[in-house]
Amino acid sequence: MTETSSRLPRHVAVIMDGNGRWAKKRLMPRFAGHVVGVETVRQIVKQCAELKIEVLTLFAFSSENWRRPPTEVTALMQLFSTALQREVNKLDKNKVRLRIIGDRSAFSEELQQLILKAEAQTANNTGLTLVIAANYGGHWDIVQAAKQLARQVAAGQLNPEEVDEAKLAQYLSLPELPEPDLFIRTGGEQRISNFLLWQLAYTEFYFTDILWPDFGREAFASALESFSKRQRRFGRTGDQVEQDKNA
Ligand code: IPE
Ligand code: IPE
Ligand code: MG
Repeated sequence: MTETSSRLPRHVAVIMDGNGRWAKKRLMPRFAGHVVGVETVRQIVKQCAELKIEVLTLFAFSSENWRRPPTEVTALMQLFSTALQREVNKLDKNKVRLRIIGDRSAFSEELQQLILKAEAQTANNTGLTLVIAANYGGHWDIVQAAKQLARQVAAGQLNPEEVDEAKLAQYLSLPELPEPDLFIRTGGEQRISNFLLWQLAYTEFYFTDILWPDFGREAFASALESFSKRQRRFGRTGDQVEQDKNA
């Protein structure tokens, strides 16, 4: 095993940004960028599966993206539906387990059914877990978890004094998955844009100017390479980490 492959992240979380600018540069409608962006998703999923990365979480639509022009929102919903219909059998064949996080109640009944079906079909797969964050917001996630705890308190099933980090985390999206080790944002912006807030507490960040439709195998390999060289200290000193490694 090479140094890089021995220090692979278990969970990679990605903000796929830059589709609109990619299209604009080519004098194409923004939607064309989203369509090509789906190709990039295919290829990254394949690469993660090959590398045996356990979890890949992709930010597909934020709770703030409803603010975009209605035509773009409709087109994105359509693209999501089509991709689900077209890709699920192939994902299933490749042992990918698909999970969707976010407030799905805002989606059309048809799209909600497609999501349920895709999750059910792939639920028992043991390969890559592919998480799609759709109508997801980090604030929403924490609020919905707090709401569930509040309901238990109101029902007399939970003592407020028992609420701790682990209890809250249990009700967030992705409770049973390892927290993201590596966060990648393409497209040049350096911000979280309300993606996984709680879960990114100790994640390594990697930003690249490459626009999502151009983000290829080599670009992903560079992100992994950068991750492999970092020392994760989790509050301790660098010397402590080195000592533990040599113990
Ligand atoms: C990311 O690309 C995709 C979504 C938010 C759905 P953008 O559409 O944000 O692309 P830019 O940032 O405008 O280039
Ligand atoms: C974040 O990208 C959301 C997704 C990639 C789905 P945006 O392009 O919406 O983020 P901002 O608005 O520039 O921060
Ligand atoms: Mg953007």
